[in-house]
Amino acid sequence: MSFMYRVLICDEMNPGELNHQGFDIEYIPNMAREDVLRRLPEFDALITRSRTRVDQELLDAGTKLRVVGRGGVGVDNIDLEYASRKGILVLNAPESNNVSAAELAIALLLASARGLIRTHTKTVSGVWDRKFLGVELKDKTLGIVGLGRIGSLVAARALGLKMKVVAFDPYVTDEKFKMLDVKRAQTLDELLGQVDALTVHTPLTEETEAMVGARELALLKKGAIVVNAARGNIIEEQALVDALHSGHLFAAGIDVFKDEPPAKDHPFLTAPNLAITAHLGANTVEAQERVGAEIVDRVLAALKGDVSRGA
Ligand code: MLT
Repeated sequence: MSFMYRVLICDEMNPGELNHQGFDIEYIPNMAREDVLRRLPEFDALITRSRTRVDQELLDAGTKLRVVGRGGVGVDNIDLEYASRKGILVLNAPESNNVSAAELAIALLLASARGLIRTHTKTVSGVWDRKFLGVELKDKTLGIVGLGRIGSLVAARALGLKMKVVAFDPYVTDEKFKMLDVKRAQTLDELLGQVDALTVHTPLTEETEAMVGARELALLKKGAIVVNAARGNIIEEQALVDALHSGHLFAAGIDVFKDEPPAKDHPFLTAPNLAITAHLGANTVEAQERVGAEIVDRVLAALKGDVSRGA
């Protein structure tokens, strides 16, 4: 008995080879939500990135849906509980874009320290302003919240810049801290009080949403730098804007917003000393090749498992 499983990839990625025996894979990058809803009943699996909200409406529309694959790490755009209630397997590609995400965090840290975005904007608008004084990172302390895959890569790169690194992560062993040459902070408050720059690398969960708010930002030294290339609103957006306007923070680098794309009047867009990118942590040629290959492989393997069970 032969099966033909159908897979829809509705977000932009590099899915690699689409011809796999026994599978019909359709790649429609940046598909409009109403089109996904309309076409989904034809498919056994859906592969997305963070752009597509896989909520109850979408999961209900996928009447044949067995697997949802997330091209990337975070699964916060997927209603995991509802998927599991419906018996839909959710998979991600947890390794593929870690280096790219870590490199962007470091890029935002450097951009913040040296005012790259603001000086670029001034220079291209014809203003030759050599007054801006940046700060060096060498011998400064970087605080990392979340010492998982991406946080560890950020730590290694910061040590390469001759920074000291301290992290807060209650789920990581002392051995790993030692191996990475990172000092452990027992609490978030303890971390905040001793760092010159802060970067967060946690998933977005009930525990981490807005975990750094006005109170926590006030615990940072005056003149600190803040980076968020993880998920929007782990650092509360308005609190961050206020800390930039008041001058408590020297600068910040942000790749992610609570709602994406952000509203045209989002306060980040006019905040001083803020380097912004458009959720591009995973957007490198290398990461997208790896992400596409990994998630397609994992989804097809899951469907094949389903075939052998069903055959
Ligand atoms: C991730 O969670 O890995 C990224 O957000 C992936 C993406 O850019 O979609």
